[in-house]
Formats: sequence, structure tokens, C-alpha cells
Amino acid sequence: MKIIAVANQKGGVGKTTTSVNLAACLADRGARILLIDLDPQANATSGLGFPPIEGQSIYGALIGQGTIAEKVIPTRWPHLWLIPGDLELAGAEIEVARAEDHLTRLRTALQPLRDDAPFDFILLDCPPSLGILMTNALAAADELLVPLQCEYFALEGLSKISQVVQQIRDCGANPDLTIGGVLMTMFMRNNLAMQVISEVQSHFGEVIFKTVVPRSVRLAEAPSHGQPILEYEPGGLGTAAYKALASEFLARHPVAGVV
Ligand SMILES: Nc1ncnc2c1ncn2[C@@H]1O[C@H](COP(=O)(O)OP(=O)(O)OP(=O)(O)O)[C@@H](O)[C@H]1O
Ligand SMILES: [Mg+2]
Repeated sequence: MKIIAVANQKGGVGKTTTSVNLAACLADRGARILLIDLDPQANATSGLGFPPIEGQSIYGALIGQGTIAEKVIPTRWPHLWLIPGDLELAGAEIEVARAEDHLTRLRTALQPLRDDAPFDFILLDCPPSLGILMTNALAAADELLVPLQCEYFALEGLSKISQVVQQIRDCGANPDLTIGGVLMTMFMRNNLAMQVISEVQSHFGEVIFKTVVPRSVRLAEAPSHGQPILEYEPGGLGTAAYKALASEFLARHPVAGVV
């Protein structure tokens, strides 16, 4: 089992869109996926069609109330489970930050799932700010998937994340953390976007996914219908992109029995 944090401290770069749609496409291929919504905004939760469910977020498990298993709910897709987000997660910034082991609360809470491995992948949809929730995700994850918008400051953002990854490694919270994938999102064919992609490629060669997610109104609309893109527009460009991403992801992380 692998834990993947979908993270970028920058807001609005496609973290949630990628978490929801990659999770749905991987589940569609037969991989067992748990999506954890770590954002108090709970966009991934509503994007899968769930209302906020009081007391169901991972917050309780972070502050030592209840186990992680109690928080997992099934979705209407057979291989996809969810731990929903809720506004109470915002309390973690204060409550968890006070605790001595504040960096590794999530890592500890997820350990039973590592031991029992009921899922092939856990995807963590991180909030944008570099607060306690995101740092806990980085401490808990095997690797990061970083969505990057094809815009001028993309590379700057990426080097900032690399620094944070280095810090998390150095402080001992997660010595093995790596950036496992960089995904270019909201692509529109123009000179700037092409230039940004080739710059990111020259710095992060191997880890950048070949799949580039195009800017698509349908991808932006799907969450308001509570649907992943492969359900909302099965034949569209957004679906094709996230299916291709799922294939690339599975090629990097093969799962027995999933072809
Ligand atoms: N490929 C795309 N084409 C068009 N719109 C997109 C695309 N990807 C995401 N969006 C839209 O852009 C906005 C930001 O995307 P998203 O919520 O996935 O980003 P985020 O990084 O999770 O944001 P936050 O930092 O607030 O959590 C949303 O309105 C989303 O629907
Ligand atoms: Mg988000």
C-alpha cells in the first residue's frame, strides 16, 4: 500500500480536481482507493457528492478520539472509499499544533491501514496553506504528487515544495519522502505554457507525468454535480486525461491483479 499526498502550498492549482478524478479513475481500473479529504473546505467530499457529515472527518483520529477505521465511508463506486472533510478540521491547526508529536499524528493514525492494507492507495487531498494538516500529510506520505498550473511562477512554487520536502526529511519526521510525480494542469496551448512545461521538465525530468491535464469547463463543472469527470463526461478530454494519468500512475506503482 502506498500513501500519496496530493500537495502544493499554492491554492487553486488542481489538487482537489486531481485527487477526486485520479481516485475515481484508479478505482475504475480495480485498484482499492481511500481518498482522505484533509481540507476544511471539503471540496473533494462535495465533489464526490457527499454533504458534510458531522464527526466523520479524520480530525477525531488526529486528536486521539476514535480510530481511523471508523471514519472510512463507502462511496457508490465499488473500489472507492472516502474519509470526508469537514470544517472541524480547521481546529487541527490549534489542537494538534499544541501536541508534542504534532507532525506525526496523521502518520500514527494511518499506521493500522498500512499494517492491514485494505487499500492499494491512500490519496490525501491537502489544503493549500503550509499548516499543520499539510505538514502532517507530508510526514505520513510515501510520496507527493504535485499538481502545477502551467503559469509563470510554477517553477518557483515547485522549488519551494522541494525545500519543504527536504525539511520534512531532515527533521526526521519522514526520512524517505520523495516527490513522486509532478502533474501539469489547466493546460492551454500557448507559448508560455509550453515554455513552463519544458522548464519544469529540465529540472524535474523523470517525475513529471507525460499526461498534461487540459483546461476544461467540464472538469470545473463536474464537482457541482457531485460527480468525478469519468461519470460526468465519459467521452471528454478531461476524462481522457485523468484515465491516462491513472495508467501512468499504475505503470509507476503496479498493483497485483490490476491491469
Ligand atoms: N483542468 C481544469 N480545467 C478547468 N478548470 C479546472 C481544472 N482543474 C481545476 N479546475 C478548477 O479550478 C479551480 C481550482 O481547482 P481545485 O479546487 O482542484 O484546486 P485546489 O488546488 O484543490 O484548490 P485549493 O488550494 O483551494 O484546495 C476549481 O474551480 C476547479 O474546478
Ligand atoms: Mg483543494
